[in-house]
Amino acid sequence: MKHTDIPVITIDGPSGAGKGTISLRLAKHLDWHTLDSGAMYRVLALAANRYNVPLENESALANLATHLEIYFKPLPDLSATQVILDGQNVSQDLRSEVSGAAASKIAVLPAVRRALLIRQRDFCQAPGLVAEGRDMGTVVFPEAHKKFFLTASCEERAHRRYKQLIDSGINARLSDIIRDITERDKRDSTRAKAPLIAADDAHVIDTTGVSIETVVACILKKVAL
Ligand code: DC
Repeated sequence: MKHTDIPVITIDGPSGAGKGTISLRLAKHLDWHTLDSGAMYRVLALAANRYNVPLENESALANLATHLEIYFKPLPDLSATQVILDGQNVSQDLRSEVSGAAASKIAVLPAVRRALLIRQRDFCQAPGLVAEGRDMGTVVFPEAHKKFFLTASCEERAHRRYKQLIDSGINARLSDIIRDITERDKRDSTRAKAPLIAADDAHVIDTTGVSIETVVACILKKVAL
């Protein structure tokens, strides 16, 4: 089966726009696979730190990206996906803002993006894939059947991240999160390679003040499978 025969829904947008939760809900509803591409950048940055690969060494990072043993393990209720690096569950380590910032830094490196793109396309498996990130609709799956771009105000996204971190037992300060999100948005949107931008054929949904259920229902209506 060709990749293009397998239906793909892409969900792109900035940090805290609700991509993760919404992708998991959609995939559960459709009984499809999911790809959290941000987790790939995060786990690569974590591995680089563990194996003493400097975050500026583009070719060493790309090599690590190609050979890294990463495994994504959905929880039985499909409410989340555990990330296993070299046999160890690193999901909790990946959640922090430090991890997000490191991921955003290595994400500007073209060789790293090329190496991860190959691995991301491998997730396109029958019966279908919900892929979330920054460039899923523009670069990784340009032939996707339906594309969505989720946005929300910076304040609302920061509040959501804050709640997520506190709920999962990670200490956080709202003002730090607003600063980090603003920096990360800027870096992700202005990089030369695969910047954060809505695909021309994406449906843009502003999720500010809108419940997850409403966004999921809106997407399912547009997907109409
Ligand atoms: O979605 P996230 O917050 O887990 O992503 C972490 C960083 O990874 C994000 O700031 C930029 C980078 N990223 C990217 O460049 N391209 C993607 N498709 C996904 C994430």
